[in-house]
Amino acid sequence: KNIAIIMGGYSSEYEISLKSGQVVFETLDASKYNAYKVHIFKNKWVYVDANDNEYPIDKNDFSVTVNGNKTTFDCIFNAIHGTPGEDGYMQGYLELLNIPHTSCGMYQASLTFNKRDCLSTLKPYGIKTATSYYINLGDTVNETAIVEKVGLPCFVKANKAGSSFGITKVYKKEDLKNALEVAFKEDDEVIIESFLDGTEVSVGVITYKGEVIVLPITEIVSNNDFFDYKAKYLGESQEITPARLSKVQEEKVNSVAKKVYEVLKMKGFSRSEYIFKDGEPHLLEVNTVPGLTKASILPQQAAAAGISLVELFSNAIEEALK
Ligand code: DAL
Ligand code: MG
Repeated sequence: KNIAIIMGGYSSEYEISLKSGQVVFETLDASKYNAYKVHIFKNKWVYVDANDNEYPIDKNDFSVTVNGNKTTFDCIFNAIHGTPGEDGYMQGYLELLNIPHTSCGMYQASLTFNKRDCLSTLKPYGIKTATSYYINLGDTVNETAIVEKVGLPCFVKANKAGSSFGITKVYKKEDLKNALEVAFKEDDEVIIESFLDGTEVSVGVITYKGEVIVLPITEIVSNNDFFDYKAKYLGESQEITPARLSKVQEEKVNSVAKKVYEVLKMKGFSRSEYIFKDGEPHLLEVNTVPGLTKASILPQQAAAAGISLVELFSNAIEEALK
């Protein structure tokens, strides 16, 4: 089968995506699949061969023609974090072309990529979240109202972004202005959340051999003030799998994470983040194209469950082809 691994994307996360994509490309089971590396950037969608030659993708059918031979793809392995791979655009496009892909559906991707809308959709199902305040670009900013609602410290986040781009932990009201500027660089919507002081965990939920399973949970201990970009990618954190949770905590977060996956009718990979407060897991966000680099959490969790990377990726493709 011909598999195109799409990587890159239009957001600040493109470098992480190229790493994730490269890992998928190098790991894919060569006895089953012909892997093609495809770079998706604003100015070019190209197949990249072993010698780094680039061939344009025909957007009419996502095919590529090399020396007069046209190749179409049986499945797209989506390794694009952020737009347009994690927010529904690619999903919608591929679904219109009837090309199977490894991520969740278009609606699920666009909903989960919008932190604000995802959290408010899940609240009526009893999913707990931080107290939040929303601002759009151009709104009048009432700093006193923000602090009254969410307290200090608080987190100012770009609503639609990943890898902690656009996130600042704010301690003083005077620092809100700067934090908003940072967040508005990534998105025109901002979500400000109360600080939840408790154990942070990352929970992978995937469909594996036809069944929804929760992978062993990872505890995040950041050396920095929070799990920021450097903590995520430059080793400035400890990621402990399985997390040091009590049985009760583990059961709670397992069942919440599974519920989120099922309520949203997810498919494929997902990794959601929670912080325990007053004994209850509070949801921060759901990632539907989680990092797949060597340092990433989901591959570590799969390994802890006895699922090798080769198997994890083959399963993703086989589930997509069902
Ligand atoms: N957004 C990054 C890639 C992650 O969730 O792993
Ligand atoms: Mg994220």
